[in-house]
Amino acid sequence: MAPDLRPVVVCLGSVVMDHTFHVEDIVQPPSKNRARSYALGAGGLAANASIAVSRLGGHCIFWGRVGDDLNGRPLLDALAEQGVDVSQCRLAPGGRTPVSAVLVDPMGERSIYSYRGENLGTEPDWLPLDRIDTAQAFLCDPRWPEGAARALDYARAKGVPTVIDGEKTETRILMDLIPRVDHAVFSVPGLALYAPGRKPVEALRRALEEGCQVAAVTQGEKGTLWMTKADPTPQRTPAFRVHATNTTGAGDVFHGAYALAIAERQPIEQVMRFASAAGALRARDGATPTRAMVEELLRG
Ligand SMILES: Nc1ncnc2c1ncn2[C@@H]1O[C@H](COP(=O)(O)OP(=O)(O)OP(=O)(O)O)[C@@H](O)[C@H]1O
Ligand SMILES: [Mg+2]
Repeated sequence: MAPDLRPVVVCLGSVVMDHTFHVEDIVQPPSKNRARSYALGAGGLAANASIAVSRLGGHCIFWGRVGDDLNGRPLLDALAEQGVDVSQCRLAPGGRTPVSAVLVDPMGERSIYSYRGENLGTEPDWLPLDRIDTAQAFLCDPRWPEGAARALDYARAKGVPTVIDGEKTETRILMDLIPRVDHAVFSVPGLALYAPGRKPVEALRRALEEGCQVAAVTQGEKGTLWMTKADPTPQRTPAFRVHATNTTGAGDVFHGAYALAIAERQPIEQVMRFASAAGALRARDGATPTRAMVEELLRG
């Protein structure tokens, strides 16, 4: 067998069973209605990012927690089908798996109800941290802060570059995690919660002062604002112009692509463009792109 030369990215964080109903209308008041179609599949910030790593040509190892209920095992199977290594995930005894009901109307407008799960265990002792020694990058989201903190500290001690999806969560969680990470890549609401009352550039500067090498905020079709410790002048990577049909998960895919590009040691401007292209294609198609699709967009 040929040796596996793919870069290894370890991803840690949320995995959710998404139940997606395509409906004519999101009806009020509550009543009985038919869905036009239905899809069941893996979602969650870090899980979506993991699928992106895998589809874009990386070897992704995912660390997350599901319950040993009806949703848990099928959810891990769905991730495995996308090429993600889920063999080290935790199937928590007596746990309830996170699930979402996603209603999508014909215009692509969404209404989402999320259940974050129960009894999944916050203790990170089971994480096989030494797997990070063989990885070229580590990515996490803030949905399991205890696990993220433990793995970020381990990766830093080993010199493995780390990335966080600085999404919406409690301010204290972001304040705790950001100083532990090399690349802090926020969403607009995440950045506002990290540094309440500060302008984006000032908030990113704070992340650099706290020890990050790169601080960035993704701003949808306005592109990505970023700066580095070596050169704290704000830079902007424009978004690729696409006809967006479903922007769900564009940010998650951006982060997966970003972590893979870091693992491949791409220079930082190129990392931003690579991740932007992947995010744009996800917004265009509502599906995670392949490597060939991203490279075609980068060439065009
Ligand atoms: N409509 C779009 N057109 C082109 N590129 C887009 C579009 N939406 C997102 N992107 C790309 O994906 C990146 C991430 O998107 P965005 O900033 O919307 O993430 P987010 O706010 O975290 O949302 P979510 O996590 O729900 O996908 C953007 O910086 C951009 O490069
Ligand atoms: Mg996001």
